[in-house]
Amino acid sequence: MIEITEQTLASLRQTVKERISPRRLAHTLAVEDAVTRLCALYCPQEELPLRAAALLHDLTKELSLDGQIELARTHGLSLTEADIASPKTLHARTAAALIPKEFPHLAHPTVIGAVRWHTVGREDMTLTEQLLYLADYIDESRTFPSCVRLRRFFWEAHPEAMSSEERLQHLRRTLLLSFRMTLGDLLREGALISPETVAARNALLLLCPDDADPDA
Ligand SMILES: [Fe+2]
Ligand SMILES: [Fe+2]
Repeated sequence: MIEITEQTLASLRQTVKERISPRRLAHTLAVEDAVTRLCALYCPQEELPLRAAALLHDLTKELSLDGQIELARTHGLSLTEADIASPKTLHARTAAALIPKEFPHLAHPTVIGAVRWHTVGREDMTLTEQLLYLADYIDESRTFPSCVRLRRFFWEAHPEAMSSEERLQHLRRTLLLSFRMTLGDLLREGALISPETVAARNALLLLCPDDADPDA
């Protein structure tokens, strides 16, 4: 039985601080804040595991591609050509893989799943995976126009005043918009697109059939 406490998080925050740059740390702490606010709306009982996931989610992001590949080997991950061509998303796999060995006291499926899927998403994401994904996109340190747009889309609708069913649908619509913007950016950049990102977007589109494309 894994029990995560405020003390566990305080010591994890210290460890993370020693391993990432000040800029990445500022983002990481802002994601922890964002996921705390989201948990209060959607699943207060998952707050501590999701804050642990927030602290761990970008732990390996600053490694070089060679460092990522080496870490993947160490943890027995098999990498495809597409993984190596998309180094920006590889860190989610390496960070998730190191949790059981380096942080066995945090190796909870909620923590590992949220870290594993925070970059590309996947079909039928769990609620906790969705919350870390969104927190990473809309944390207050983000100034990219798409992040500002998504942050406003989510909070300016006042999810705190919605019924629980409306609030869940609002989460799905917000994620659908995020995947729409991400896929648009990837197409414009000519970048590889993970099939998981397409599957995540399609699954949400089926759940939001009346959601007109706001850019159309
Ligand atoms: Fe990340
Ligand atoms: Fe991040």
